[in-house]
Amino acid sequence: MLDYKQALADVRFWDKDTDSFFRSNGAPIIDPALQNRLEIIELCKWIEKNNIRSYLEIGVWTGRLISALHAIFSFDTVAAVDLGDALDFGFEIHLPEETLFFEGDSQSPVYVNWRKRIEAIDLVFIDANHDYTAVVADFEVNKDLPNKYLAFHGIAGSPYVGVGVKKFWEELEGNKHEIILPHDDAGLEFSTMGIGIWSR
Ligand SMILES: C[S@@+](CC[C@H](N)C(=O)[O-])C[C@H]1O[C@@H](n2cnc3c(N)ncnc32)[C@H](O)[C@@H]1O
Repeated sequence: MLDYKQALADVRFWDKDTDSFFRSNGAPIIDPALQNRLEIIELCKWIEKNNIRSYLEIGVWTGRLISALHAIFSFDTVAAVDLGDALDFGFEIHLPEETLFFEGDSQSPVYVNWRKRIEAIDLVFIDANHDYTAVVADFEVNKDLPNKYLAFHGIAGSPYVGVGVKKFWEELEGNKHEIILPHDDAGLEFSTMGIGIWSR
């Protein structure tokens, strides 16, 4: 298995500076991957183990995570969906060149039409609006599309991710795998995020 700690060493994740900015401003209006490094290292191990070859990220912010994952795995298909909030805050969105990008609302009928034009996806990472009703809506839309696994960001519940995804995850039935690890880069002994991976 690849050394994913090493492979991700140059990627900036949510760290102490991000955390202090979030605490002062109430929003993560900054440009690292908005993830817990240790959880993404574990996600990489899971991706390798489950032979994930196609990846769709719903909610990319500035594209740091999708770019890092694609640099490691060179997915056969890489796709992204985002409303473009990062642009409104003056950032650029950087995606791998071959990304199929839908710039719009993941809960719109237009998204469903766009998604149906793409082949089956092995892993969809849902990391958009973390409110309970929004994550339920993203689940309802994507569960019937040709996807193998749906992953949800924010199952640990915290001031950053809120408790909507946690509640949704606890209610969800099916095969569930959890990645919840201490948020080391932020100097915390607990997870502020958490990733849940679901399949039927
Ligand atoms: C937490 S950020 C994503 C972080 C990113 N996955 C990462 O690891 O750095 C959430 C993103 O979801 C997008 N978003 C929120 N609601 C959305 C929706 N209904 N449809 C599409 N994108 C949405 C926002 O524009 C924002 O860029």
